[in-house]
Amino acid sequence: MAGINCIGILTSGGDAPGMNAAIRAVTRAAIYGGLRVKGIYRGYRGLITGEIVEFKTQNVSNIIQAGGTILKTARCKEFQTPEGRKQAYEMMQKEGIDALVVIGGDGSLTGARVFATEFNIPIVGLPGTIDNDLYGTDRTIGYDTALNTIMECVDKIRDTATSHERLFFIEVMGRDAGFLALNGAIASGAEAAIIPEISTEVDQLSELISNGFRKSKNSSIVLVAESPVTGGAMGMAERVKNEFPQYDVRVSILGHLQRGGSPTAADRILASRMGAAAIEALLEDQRNVMIGIRNDEIVYVPFSKAIKNDKPIKRELLTTLRTLSI
Ligand code: F6P
Repeated sequence: MAGINCIGILTSGGDAPGMNAAIRAVTRAAIYGGLRVKGIYRGYRGLITGEIVEFKTQNVSNIIQAGGTILKTARCKEFQTPEGRKQAYEMMQKEGIDALVVIGGDGSLTGARVFATEFNIPIVGLPGTIDNDLYGTDRTIGYDTALNTIMECVDKIRDTATSHERLFFIEVMGRDAGFLALNGAIASGAEAAIIPEISTEVDQLSELISNGFRKSKNSSIVLVAESPVTGGAMGMAERVKNEFPQYDVRVSILGHLQRGGSPTAADRILASRMGAAAIEALLEDQRNVMIGIRNDEIVYVPFSKAIKNDKPIKRELLTTLRTLSI
């Protein structure tokens, strides 16, 4: 097993519900496999500054249901520099950490890839982000919980939208990816989703209005993915106020509440499977791969693919949304 005796685990970037379930799974699977585990606090920053604690199985008791990350998280600028990464490597040596499991999104796995290549360290990544924007995996840890949160929020907004017969633009997260907006719209019965993947091709707002989206309804809900490309919910509302002043428009930006809360069963199970798979991968001498899930099977996705490629949205979902919103 490539001389791995001790693994380090960290969470990095935006937190996501299910990260704790993943930390628990990695820790327990490693100890089960005869490895030592060290918890690294505050992402790559903790690896540089040495905020590192030996983890036993008890350190991860009672956390499967908790949102956020017990290891804390950070976006670390120093780690983007060669000096920062060198310090991190020296700390790993000092702590006797032979391999790393990194839980995070695009930016975190990009850092992992550079670090692994520079110092020839075995690193396995877990896709932890509500955005679902990593290539090579059907789902990321936290996405399902965020989707459910969005659905619950939209259900509530719908009550007031209906009472006042208003047009609501609800902005959801996704950092330039439309997965939360599109599937959130289908799950909550919204009229439309404005997503960056499509904004570059057509003017979705004009299309929506010209299709007469309020012909059969007095209130409407449109989910908008946050992105400079879509202009966000505020941008949409401004346009409607100027171009279609007959509509009574309101905006709601769901913001960081989408990142919190107890993970759903789907996210807990996904995180548990992926966490255990990360240790299996390291013990099989895999390195520089992200654990993914495809058609309910665990897969290893090379970092280069997971990070570089844009994950496409399913076009048929747009058609479904349109069909069902008549
Ligand atoms: O990547 C997760 C995410 O929640 C994105 O959807 C969003 O754009 C970003 O993080 C927000 O980051 P911050 O927590 O720094 O405001």
